[in-house]
Amino acid sequence: MYHDEYINLKRDLEKGYKNPYDYERDLQKLVNKIIIDIQEKNIESDTKRVIEIFNDVKNIKVPSGIQKRFDNILLNEYEIAERKTVLKSKIRRLYCAVTSFCNIKCIMCDIEKHKWELPERAIEEIIELMPYLENVMWQGGEVFFYKHFEKLMDSANLNKVNQEIVTNGLLLNEKNIHKLVEYNVDLGISIDGLTKDVYEYIRVGANFDKLIDNIKLLKKIKLNNRLRKSHLRLNVLVMKSNIEQIEFFPEFAAEYGFTRLCVNPFGPDFVSQENIFHYNKSDKFKYKIMNIKEKLFEKCKYMNIELVDSLPSYRIMNEIPSDKKEESVKKEDTKGEVENVTKTLLLCHAPWRKIFIDSDGTIMPECLCKREYSIGNISKNKIDEIWNNDNMQAYRQKIINGDQYVICKSDCTEGRIPSKVLKDVINTNLFWWEF
Ligand SMILES: C[S@@+](CC[C@H](N)C(=O)[O-])C[C@H]1O[C@@H](n2cnc3c(N)ncnc32)[C@H](O)[C@@H]1O
Repeated sequence: MYHDEYINLKRDLEKGYKNPYDYERDLQKLVNKIIIDIQEKNIESDTKRVIEIFNDVKNIKVPSGIQKRFDNILLNEYEIAERKTVLKSKIRRLYCAVTSFCNIKCIMCDIEKHKWELPERAIEEIIELMPYLENVMWQGGEVFFYKHFEKLMDSANLNKVNQEIVTNGLLLNEKNIHKLVEYNVDLGISIDGLTKDVYEYIRVGANFDKLIDNIKLLKKIKLNNRLRKSHLRLNVLVMKSNIEQIEFFPEFAAEYGFTRLCVNPFGPDFVSQENIFHYNKSDKFKYKIMNIKEKLFEKCKYMNIELVDSLPSYRIMNEIPSDKKEESVKKEDTKGEVENVTKTLLLCHAPWRKIFIDSDGTIMPECLCKREYSIGNISKNKIDEIWNNDNMQAYRQKIINGDQYVICKSDCTEGRIPSKVLKDVINTNLFWWEF
């Protein structure tokens, strides 16, 4: 078991068979192995094994700066396994809009109408949460437009929290790029056109030449800091004006050092001629999307770019799998005997792990959740209260009971959102420390 491995490691350190550097590296490997294992077992609803791992590893000591995070992960996995609706464990992932204000006015976005900023009181609450968080994604509006943003970034870095930012990239400069690289922040830059005319038509007030200068500078600074391990992502929103350019985004991504390309469809809430995913659809359009998807897939594979393609798969849409709530599996027990275990799988783990603060302060477990079933608003409610309030408990209880159809979006309940998204992709990068 893992505890024995830990004791052996400690013994090797004490006897001088391992130096402190190797000890810490091996301890990190062990911790990552434990986190992957316990999460995987929870995804499979192997409750018995989750509790065994929890009891086996709960006395493992990791470097003091990350002990709270490690203990919180274990407790949280234990509470998911036990199907708790009131949690002692704290939030593990935070998706947080910091402002609705932006330096540009895109044709597909009306976030600025909220005229909202993250209240200063909430900054202190988020800072208190940092030692427990594995990952935080900052969004806007435009994050670099928020006057307290550096304070939040500094605090996340101090606590070794994995940070992601979604930005338009136009307010990047030498000073903030150095900081982002130094802090290993994963940057997602939203670029919806490959030519000056298309880009500036969509992103009103933006300057394509400035964008290119900024991403060139970013690439240069990242190249000079090769030891830093942040990722650079390109987000593109597909719409009427740029659809002819989408297939050429992999080349652009490769040229400027992007490691991931996220291709997203226009959301349903914004009514516009540009919104070809929800208005004026035709077979010709569907055929075009299918064609684009194939090209992106082939090119990204060839160019070694990770593709996150969220465009609809029209071929599959007609064959939505029925929601598998119960699954009978054959499993070998410790004596080598095969037993039948009936598992009740949870549709989604989001309400146990994370919260999403939207650009008007509305809080939901995940950005995919329905706004009418929000769990509160950061301008009125404290994060601690929200985490276990009646609304959040209702999410957990309904998912436990298999009644998620009542509150969750049909995209999730009918299988259009991949299970690994709903259960959280296991990313050991979320749990690192430097030697
Ligand atoms: C609202 S922006 C805010 C962050 C930043 N200012 C930016 O441009 O990336 C965040 C992301 O939402 C996307 N977005 C904007 N309007 C959208 C819509 N109507 N449907 C879906 N995504 C949208 C943008 O393309 C961007 O990638």
